[in-house]
Amino acid sequence: MNVEAFRIVGGKKIAGELTVDGSKNAALPIFIATLIEKGTYILNNVPDLRDIRTLVQLLESLGLEIERMEKNSYKIKNNGLKSLTASYELVKKMRASFLVMGPMLAHCGEAKVSLPGGCAIGSRPVDLHLKGFEALGVKINISHGYVEGKVEDLKGTRVVFDFPSVGATENVIMLAVKANGKTVIENAAREPEIDDLCNFLNKMGAKISGIGTGRLEIEGVERLVPCEYSIIPDRIVAGTFIVASLMFDGAITVKGVVREHIESFISKLEEMGAVFEIKGELLSTKTKLSELKPVRAITRPHPGFPTDLQSPMMTLMALVKGTSEIKETIFENRFMHVPELNRMGANITIDANIAIIDGVDNFSSAEVMASDLRAGASLILAGLLAEGETIVNRIYHVDRGYENLEEKLRAIGANIERIKVEI
Ligand code: EPZ
Repeated sequence: MNVEAFRIVGGKKIAGELTVDGSKNAALPIFIATLIEKGTYILNNVPDLRDIRTLVQLLESLGLEIERMEKNSYKIKNNGLKSLTASYELVKKMRASFLVMGPMLAHCGEAKVSLPGGCAIGSRPVDLHLKGFEALGVKINISHGYVEGKVEDLKGTRVVFDFPSVGATENVIMLAVKANGKTVIENAAREPEIDDLCNFLNKMGAKISGIGTGRLEIEGVERLVPCEYSIIPDRIVAGTFIVASLMFDGAITVKGVVREHIESFISKLEEMGAVFEIKGELLSTKTKLSELKPVRAITRPHPGFPTDLQSPMMTLMALVKGTSEIKETIFENRFMHVPELNRMGANITIDANIAIIDGVDNFSSAEVMASDLRAGASLILAGLLAEGETIVNRIYHVDRGYENLEEKLRAIGANIERIKVEI
C-alpha cells in the first residue's frame, strides 16, 4: 500500500516569511456549533486542513449543507438535521467529532455519537463531557461503542470540572447556551480557542460571561441568530514557526502571531535568551541559535505552556548547549517523537513524564516517523537543518494541522517534497 512521506534535503539556506492560517482548534468547535440553530452561517479564515474536510463530511452526514465559497471561507446552511447519529466511521478519524454531541442535544434534545477511540498520545476518555451533560439533565446510555443522549428538560446548573478539559468545556458550553436558566462552569478550560467559540456564540445572541477566566456563566436563551464570523490565527502553528525562526538565526519572520495566545511559550523562549520584536502580528528576531541557553518547561492547561508545543520546543532544545528538561503533564504518552529525534542524532532521555535533553551541534539526516501532528512538525523542522536526506513517514498526521506546509517551506528555500512510499 502506498502512503505519503516528506523527503527533505536539509542544510539549505532558509530565509523568508511564514504565514499562520486560521486556528484548527477554534475552527472545529465553531463549525460544529452551527448544528445548534437553523439558519445560514458564514465562517472565514478557516484553515485548509484534512481535519476540516473530515468534519465537513461528518456535518453533511447529519444534514448540514456546506458550501466552500473561497479557499478559507464556508457557507453553512442548517435547515434541520436529517440524522442524529455520528457514526464510528467518521468519529474514529478525528476525536474532536465528539463535540457534535452538545450541539445536537441543544438542537433537538437527542444525539447518538460514537465514543471516540483513543489515539497515539493517550486514552483520552470523555467522562468529563458526560458528567457535564448529566448535570444539565441529559439521560446518558452507553452501548455498543455509542453514547446515546436524551434530554426533555434542559436546565441550567453548576458544573465543576476535575480537570479543565478543552473538549468537555466546549461541549458543555454548546449545550448550556440553550438551557432554561443559568449554568456556571467552574474550572473551565481557558484556551484562546474556547474564547473564540464563546465570542462566536455571543455574536449569535448567547449570554456567556467570564470568558478567558476559569469560571464561565451562561444564561440560556430561547434562540440564537446565525452570523458571519472570522476564526483566530492558529497559535500552535505560530509557535511551530517561531521555533523554526530561532533554528535559523532569525532568518524567518512569522506573520499572524498573537502574543497573548502563547504568552507562556514566548516568555519561555525569552528565558532561553531569545529577543523578539512583534509589530502588529509580525514577529521577528535577531537572536542566534548559538546564543540560546537551556531551560526547564512544564506543560500545563492554558495559560500554562501548551502541550501542543512540547514537541516543537524539544527540537529547539535539542540544539541548545547544556541540559534542558520538559515535563509533560497533560497526556500520558506524548514523547513518541523522542526516539525519532534520537535517530536524528539528538541526545534525549526519558524519566517517566520528564524528557532530559542534552544539546548537540546539529541533527543528522535519517528516516523517521510522525506519531501525531505536532511530533511530525518537530521532525520536519529537524530535517530542515540536518545535512542530507531525511524522510518523515506518516505525514497524514501533519496534514491534519498544518496547511500546505511543504509549499510554505519551499517558498523560503527548503528542499522538501511529498513522495509516495510502499508500506
Ligand atoms: C484539545 O484536545 C486539542 N484538540 C488538543 O490538540 C490539545 O492537545 C488538548 O486540547 C490539550 O490542550 C482540539 O482542540 C481539537 P482535553 P482535547 O479534553 O479537548 C483528559 C492538536 O494538536 N480528559 O483538554 O481532547 C485527556 O485524556 C490536538 O491539535 C479526561 O480525562 O483535550 C487528556 O489527558 C492534540 N476526560 C487531558 O484531559 C475527559 O472527559 C486533556 O484533554 C476529557 C479529557
